Amino acid sequence: MEVLIADTPEAAAVFAAAAVLDGLRTHRGETQVLGLATGSSPLGLYAELAAAAKRGEIDFSQTIGFALDEYVGIPDTHEQSYRQTLIREVCEVIGLPVSGLNVPNGHGESVAQIAAQATAYDEAIRAAGGVDVQILGIGANGHLGFNEPASSLRSRTRIKRLAAQTREDNARFFDGLDQVPTHCVTQGLGTVQEARRLVLIATGSHKAEAIAAAVEGPLSASCPGSVLQLHPDAVVIVDEAAAAGLKNRAYYDDAAAGLQFGI
Ligand code: F6R
Repeated sequence: MEVLIADTPEAAAVFAAAAVLDGLRTHRGETQVLGLATGSSPLGLYAELAAAAKRGEIDFSQTIGFALDEYVGIPDTHEQSYRQTLIREVCEVIGLPVSGLNVPNGHGESVAQIAAQATAYDEAIRAAGGVDVQILGIGANGHLGFNEPASSLRSRTRIKRLAAQTREDNARFFDGLDQVPTHCVTQGLGTVQEARRLVLIATGSHKAEAIAAAVEGPLSASCPGSVLQLHPDAVVIVDEAAAAGLKNRAYYDDAAAGLQFGI
């Protein structure tokens, strides 16, 4: 795992974009496949990717995107559905075609139908050649995707109940807590780990505890983010505030000095 500590959230976004572009260049197969996260954390990163595309350093016009997760119980057309969010915040920003955007399907007549669609989602990722680079945020409770604490470290894409804290954190996007869906379909931690590179970005003091647990804590389902410790190519990029709980900081700074990514 590489841990990069940036002075500011803006600098973290620049580092994260460099790690994504480097990962796409290194790992790209026939089709470029990018794993997408929603939320506030990667917005600066998407802006940096857009700037890189504008400079001609990367082209997302043929890229396939796979979202980490989607709510259950709100229509695809809802402005807070992750499909609409990703169209707005990623497709229209970096130039990834909407036709190439895949989002888990949270609709169905029954839980069994949603479960079957979730399994098909994992198969679609494999059929596309696997995710080259998965962009990740982390919840204040350590969740990855919507794999809440106690999620199996080998889980596959499936329906999950959202933790109370996650619903409270995401209430800012809805007209009140009671409007926030209670369930989601999320890529499993096993699914996420199959991406060739993981790039996690976290900024702000409210993420410091989760980052310390994910990077330096025990590998544990109690902190789903700790599963990054198992991945052979995981890059964690934080700002000073989110790095505040890290004990091994001197080593990260030293190691980062020799890192590539063109930075
Ligand atoms: C989003 C996702 C979540 C978020 C996490 C952090 O697709 O899967 O794990 O990355 O909740 O959210 P923000 O970035 O809004 O703090």
